[in-house]
Amino acid sequence: MRRSRRPSGLLGAGAVLLAVVAFGPPPDGAPAGAGVAPEPDAPAPLPRPAGWPAPRYDVSATPPTQAGVALGRALFYDPRLSRDGTISCASCHLQATGFTHADHALSHGIEGRVGRRSTLALVNLAWNPVLHWDGGVHHLDVQPLTPLTHPAEMDHSPAAVVADLNRSKPCRARFARAFRGDSVPTGQRVLLALAQFTGQFVSYRSRYDKHVRHEPGGELTEQELTGLALFRRHCAAPHRATRTLDPRLRAPFPLTANDQRDLIAFLLTLTDDEFLTDPQFGYPVEEGGG
Ligand code: HEC
Repeated sequence: MRRSRRPSGLLGAGAVLLAVVAFGPPPDGAPAGAGVAPEPDAPAPLPRPAGWPAPRYDVSATPPTQAGVALGRALFYDPRLSRDGTISCASCHLQATGFTHADHALSHGIEGRVGRRSTLALVNLAWNPVLHWDGGVHHLDVQPLTPLTHPAEMDHSPAAVVADLNRSKPCRARFARAFRGDSVPTGQRVLLALAQFTGQFVSYRSRYDKHVRHEPGGELTEQELTGLALFRRHCAAPHRATRTLDPRLRAPFPLTANDQRDLIAFLLTLTDDEFLTDPQFGYPVEEGGG
């Protein structure tokens, strides 16, 4: 599932600038690790299913490692990233619903504050040319700054997050593993680790995906194939729920009750249960607290 959005440019540039202003450069001369031997930098390459284009997220400068992804996972589920310690990224981005919040039309942040936008699913982010509904964020490495500082989301200050994390010994140990023995959490490293984790959210194992790749498990029933044909005929053109709605979608198209059943049968083949239940993306119980 990939979306194309209109890049605005402004917020993206602002977010990059904010990243530099808020966090500054990484402390090269910072004190070394908390006594935890760094693991080898085992790489964490993205899955590249057959037929997919190369990801747009350029990781050549900082290739994801297993330890970086593990750190990002711990941070993603850590409510200390919000000002009052109640909301983690996972509060709004729930794995079971494709990392969105299916029963909330608008996002819910700290102190019950309701945002102005619906939480986006986090899927195949590394292939997205731009991020957010309006395409206002241009790079996964700086994206987490927005929820961290947004008043209706986590309403925190990057400096305070870093100070909090620095007080935790298990947390410093995770940073040491991810950053070659240097245990100091910095803002830049928090962002990078989160991006390394969310970048791994690749959905490619639905029955429909397997069908397209002619893999076992990708056999579709006659009803699902009829639904697919209907989908191609009526729904495959790009569409949105806005003033810029494609003229072809303005006129309603008639669907019989049978058509509707066939279409739904096909749509259900798009669910990637393996992605929704993949333990590597779940709450990191084995990591413990801290
Ligand atoms: C209070 C709810 C909330 C929290 C907490 C939250 N998000 Fe989001 N997230 C949203 C909303 C709403 C959007 C859509 C924002 C927009 O378009 O302006 C979004 C969008 C995103 C996107 C862009 C997805 C895309 O396809 O464009 C990413 C990536 C993301 N969030 C990651 C995170 C991370 C990482 C954290 C934790 C640091 C986090 N979010 C915390 C609600 C939340």
